[in-house]
Amino acid sequence: MVVSNRLPVHRVVVDDRKGWEISPGGLVSALLPVLQSRPSTWVGWSGTSETDLEPFMHDGIRNQPVPLTSGEIETFYEGFANRTIWPLYHDAIATPTFRRRWWQPYVSVNQRFAKIATDCTSKGGIMWIQDFHLQLVPAMVRHQRPDIRIGFFLHIPFPPPELFSTLPWRRQILEGFLGADVIGFQTRANAANFRTLARRYAGAVIKGRDLIYQGRTIRVDAFPISIDVGRYHHLAESEEVSKKAIDFRRSLGSARKIVLGVDRLDYTKGIDIRLKAFRELLKTNRIGLEDATFVQVAVPSRERVEEYKELHNKVDQLVGEINGTYGEIGRMPVHYIQRNMRIEELVALYLAADVMLVTPLRDGMNLVAKEYVASRKDNTGVLILSEFAGAAQELKSALIVNPHDIEDLSDSINHAITITNAEEVRRMRALRRVVRNNDVFKWADRFLEILER
Ligand code: G6P
Repeated sequence: MVVSNRLPVHRVVVDDRKGWEISPGGLVSALLPVLQSRPSTWVGWSGTSETDLEPFMHDGIRNQPVPLTSGEIETFYEGFANRTIWPLYHDAIATPTFRRRWWQPYVSVNQRFAKIATDCTSKGGIMWIQDFHLQLVPAMVRHQRPDIRIGFFLHIPFPPPELFSTLPWRRQILEGFLGADVIGFQTRANAANFRTLARRYAGAVIKGRDLIYQGRTIRVDAFPISIDVGRYHHLAESEEVSKKAIDFRRSLGSARKIVLGVDRLDYTKGIDIRLKAFRELLKTNRIGLEDATFVQVAVPSRERVEEYKELHNKVDQLVGEINGTYGEIGRMPVHYIQRNMRIEELVALYLAADVMLVTPLRDGMNLVAKEYVASRKDNTGVLILSEFAGAAQELKSALIVNPHDIEDLSDSINHAITITNAEEVRRMRALRRVVRNNDVFKWADRFLEILER
């Protein structure tokens, strides 16, 4: 049983008829084969305000929709999940909003997920709960069904005690997590933050990597998530994708190097600072239009939330200003694409890009960094990676930057576009080794092996 805010499928309408399509993303591709090999169900929200959806089969998996009313989308999803927890857990880059009227809907939606999920879990079954929308579900499930083995994995960072302690509902959230038998985080630092806080506010006892809580032993550890490496490898080798990569390069003009960013349009990703660093290089004449072109793909996200609207405007404005100031007819320094892209197009862009900028101000893992590395089958390409992405704990051969430091960023971009071939290949080889050795299947196996013990 997998429980996550979103189902692994999303609504599509073809010829006026509604259907479902598998959503892109690492979690879905990791868990599909695991779930397809045994009777299993995925419990989640359909992403719409339809409230009358029946369970349905798709690709060998039973999908059990959890309805959310439009009021709950506003209070539970856009409010508590995306305006309280999301910014708080990402270093308070945007100021978290603590609004009392969002708490009760968070509790009742978590209760609904817990009820629906336990109703479809057989005796002694395994339940794996995902991410920050559902932090209360582990304890709710344990309360109703102590026979179930419960795992919880947090995909986003878990903040240091100084920040987490400001949350008015800190004790309830910690007690929610502590219903699980195994609690997974992206990094060791995140797991250590959790242990410290569980001791401070919930009276848990720390014993090595475990917590002892209410007579139970709970494993709290780092399980860095990854991608389906084989899939990226195959795509990068396919003729369609290779052709597309050549097309992209050709249409981007004659600049020597292509610098790429691919992100959800989210204020944690550092897209604006990255653009400013590129602007700085143009302004100080350290690079010209013939040296580099910057392609930024930004996938619209959480568009009704105020902070996201503000970022959207800020990025639009910066791109306009940079192109207006430094562009020439037929030659623009920044190519900005604001929409979702098919995976084939993305991999083609990864192949076309000499430099990949992954510079979030804080990120749980960042799978784009791993996707770029997995696609660079000829061992070329330079990854510039924020020290504040979980991925930096593994991808140590990237050019590591402080994404808040415009000079560090612009120096690194300059270094990347003038790098020697020997250094480029040495770094990429080392990165590829790391990514190959920990793909998303290993991640799921490791977590489930401990959970099933
Ligand atoms: C992050 C979260 C996921 C979430 C995704 C997209 O990666 O960890 O849980 O699904 O963002 O955000 P959305 O709000 O569209 O589900």
